[in-house]
Amino acid sequence: MGLGLPPPFWQDEARPPRMSKPPPPTLCHCMGVDIDTVRRVIREHELDHVREVTAHCRAGGGCKSCHVEIVELIVADQVSRGSFLRRLLRRLTGRA
Ligand code: FES
Repeated sequence: MGLGLPPPFWQDEARPPRMSKPPPPTLCHCMGVDIDTVRRVIREHELDHVREVTAHCRAGGGCKSCHVEIVELIVADQVSRGSFLRRLLRRLTGRA
């Protein structure tokens, strides 16, 4: 027999569900692509150009205002892979 009390808060079904991790911020608003998707395709495919990123996930395929951010993610990935300096020297010297 109950005491007429409301259920404890952990049994209250009216409570909104606990929010999980917030969605990642949108990087490309034209194509609706979030930053995690862009990071993932760059890393998985070792992409070096914005046009390659656009081909894989459509980011950068509109107004181009997000291209600077995409290039920053590409450079960050190249630095983490250790290939940034090698590519830079190749580009500066023209040697393969
Ligand atoms: S915001 Fe990415 S192409 Fe416009």
